[in-house]
Amino acid sequence: MDGEPPKLTFRGRFPLVLPGAGRVLRDPEAHWPPEILERSAIEASAAGRRLVLLAHPEAVNEVLQNQDGAFPRARLHDRMLGASYGDNLLRGDRADWRRQRRELLQPFNAPGAEAPEARIGAACERILDEWPGTPEGAPVDVIRDARRFTLDSLWRSFFCDEAQAGAVEPLVETTALQVDAHEAAPLTAHLEDLRPLAAVALDRERARLSAEGGEAAGVDPNTMLLFLHAGHDNVAAALAWAFWLLAEHPQWQARVREEWRGHDLRTGFDAGAFPAAGAVISETLRLYPPIMHLIREVNRDFEVDGQIIAGGFTAVLSLYAMHRNRQWWDEPDAFRPGRFLKAAPDLRRRLLWAPFGTGPRGCVGSAFARTEMIVALGTSLDRFELLPGPERMTCRVDFVLRPEGRPAVTVRPLDRDGTRDAAAR
Ligand code: HEM
Repeated sequence: MDGEPPKLTFRGRFPLVLPGAGRVLRDPEAHWPPEILERSAIEASAAGRRLVLLAHPEAVNEVLQNQDGAFPRARLHDRMLGASYGDNLLRGDRADWRRQRRELLQPFNAPGAEAPEARIGAACERILDEWPGTPEGAPVDVIRDARRFTLDSLWRSFFCDEAQAGAVEPLVETTALQVDAHEAAPLTAHLEDLRPLAAVALDRERARLSAEGGEAAGVDPNTMLLFLHAGHDNVAAALAWAFWLLAEHPQWQARVREEWRGHDLRTGFDAGAFPAAGAVISETLRLYPPIMHLIREVNRDFEVDGQIIAGGFTAVLSLYAMHRNRQWWDEPDAFRPGRFLKAAPDLRRRLLWAPFGTGPRGCVGSAFARTEMIVALGTSLDRFELLPGPERMTCRVDFVLRPEGRPAVTVRPLDRDGTRDAAAR
């Protein structure tokens, strides 16, 4: 099926005098006008605060680069997320943010560190081994399984030694199922579910640091909680979308399957060797950037397409509106991964796609996330054909842009040569 995939419908009307900024961010469809998909900048006032919604690639990049500290992470952002996580790495005014970021990725950056692909592959195969047990024609719950996979994959890659990484740890699986059961609950409920796992992660990290006898202080407990959440939730949302989109677009399934065929993760992994999977992932994240807006203070005047944005505004950088803006994209609402297959995109084109943010406070886990998604798509399509299920996926926003409407994909086992399994014919 080549129809347009689901999208948000913006219903706000000018003049934009909006309720509190928190409400606007929680329910952007109700408050922003449809023009956000055609313009570069839209000003609004929200409970006395001056907001500017930006969807202009150079302006978004300039703000995120935060030269001379002119565009720090907004206090509004700290207040909204701080209430859930407590003081943590995300805070705009944390003096130790560089150290905390470095230490989060320490397991991979240390000399001689093991590459994570084999562990990611094992986490994925565990879930795929269950799929043939799905009754004929019954859908697979890809939202639940994407979460089970991403939490297990993060855990095996960062917090397990060799012996533990062989199988899923029971606390990891129960935590993923618990968060899934609270899918529609606010962020605070997810964090409560993750807290016991974060305590174990912190113990293991401290044990590792003391075994290494290094000087590192380790991350604080709230940052560990953030890491467990940010490190699995966004990938789970993106992956569920990718499975659903691929079920709707069998020609892209075939391309991803073809380029993966015969790949053995034990012999290494090069993300660049999978251009079709990479293009599907980029297009999925263009249409559905899980973190759809980033928030920054504007501390000095700056110009966007001839319009001066004055210091004192709070900038809402709308990745969603930039990724679907009619000014810059052909068929902005269509799923067309081929647009990411063109060699060497120009600078503007690169700035137009920013699901991981950019600049000094961009995502620490972007390379890991891309590896996880390529491995998940490759290994699953190697074993299964994905077919549209009885339901259509829809969008839901709770700060994060999520898929909703499950279970939405059915699977059919394939022989190892990519044809349908004899048992399923
Ligand atoms: C599809 C997957 C992902 C997406 C779309 C995503 C997106 C983002 C974005 C947009 C930011 C920047 C927020 C800002 O500038 O205010 C961010 C920050 C962050 N991400 Fe990701 N992320 C993903 C996966 C991951 C993974 C796998 C990890 C961990 C392994 C991770 C850990 C973090 C952390 C710790 C931060 C905070 C960095 C800081 O404040 O300095 N993310 N992510």
